[in-house]
Amino acid sequence: MKIAIVGCGNMGHAYARSFRKYGLLGADELELVIRSEDRRAQLEGLGRISTSVGTTVGACDLVILAVKPQDLQTVAKDLAAVLRDDQVLLSIMAGITIPRLQEVLKHRTVVRAMPNAPAQIGMGITAYATGAELSMLQTVMVEQLLNSTGRAVHLEDESHLDAVTALSGSGPAYFFKIVQSMIDAGMELGLAPHVANALVKQTMLGSYHLMEHADRSPEELIKAVMSKGGTTEAAFKVLANEDLGGVLQRAIGAACARSTELSTS
Ligand SMILES: NC(=O)c1ccc[n+]([C@@H]2O[C@H](COP(=O)([O-])OP(=O)(O)OC[C@H]3O[C@@H](n4cnc5c(N)ncnc54)[C@H](OP(=O)(O)O)[C@@H]3O)[C@@H](O)[C@H]2O)c1
Repeated sequence: MKIAIVGCGNMGHAYARSFRKYGLLGADELELVIRSEDRRAQLEGLGRISTSVGTTVGACDLVILAVKPQDLQTVAKDLAAVLRDDQVLLSIMAGITIPRLQEVLKHRTVVRAMPNAPAQIGMGITAYATGAELSMLQTVMVEQLLNSTGRAVHLEDESHLDAVTALSGSGPAYFFKIVQSMIDAGMELGLAPHVANALVKQTMLGSYHLMEHADRSPEELIKAVMSKGGTTEAAFKVLANEDLGGVLQRAIGAACARSTELSTS
């Protein structure tokens, strides 16, 4: 199998690293297309590097499009000229729909995926939807590749990618915000920054693993930490008064609405 990655920034580079790390491809089976020469050094050894979309991309089984959405138009012309009918085009661009990709690239076998930032260390989650023209074999190939960057989830309905974008695409930023706020609170209460950092990060890590192993819902785990008249209960009274759950739901709803807006504009 041969794969081309067009756009080797954060995500394109992460994909190349994962494919090589898990032995899915050899260096001579990976075509890396960059725009500026200063990317070359960090990609050296991962695959064959070129600065334009050419016939080598046209010879690949799968082409991953990992440029920013605003760069699509520039790349589309060159790509449309080399894509063959039996190639799969996998786009990870936020907000660019399958029909739009099919139109600008003049290509039918298209997959649209929404990864998230932890894909950069092989711990991401990617949801993807496929155009009707994809064969079962092609879908399996795509899922295997996406799994090498963490986990992959197939969506029957492409429109759910807006909810995915809001939940797991933007999700790492919500998590970082909560972590930062807790660290700030610790420092406000007199803890040294490095102590507050260590306490919060290890608490997040440990709580995640407890949730994974405990076979209980987050709701049940909250009850297990909280005792009547205790400290957690005092904190939760404030969270309930400020409607933290509602705030998060509204924030995620706003992200979903914005994703819909971007994909229909
Ligand atoms: N980062 C995330 O967490 C995340 C999550 C979900 C989806 N995505 C999607 O993933 C895509 C890439 O995001 P990113 O964070 O990896 O962005 P990025 O770091 O800016 O990478 C984009 C890369 O595309 C290159 N590029 C632009 N035009 C090109 C062309 N004509 N030929 C070859 N390369 C070209 C850029 O080159 P230069 O180096 O010259 O600028 C840059 O290296 C976006 O569409 C985004 O919506 C990202």
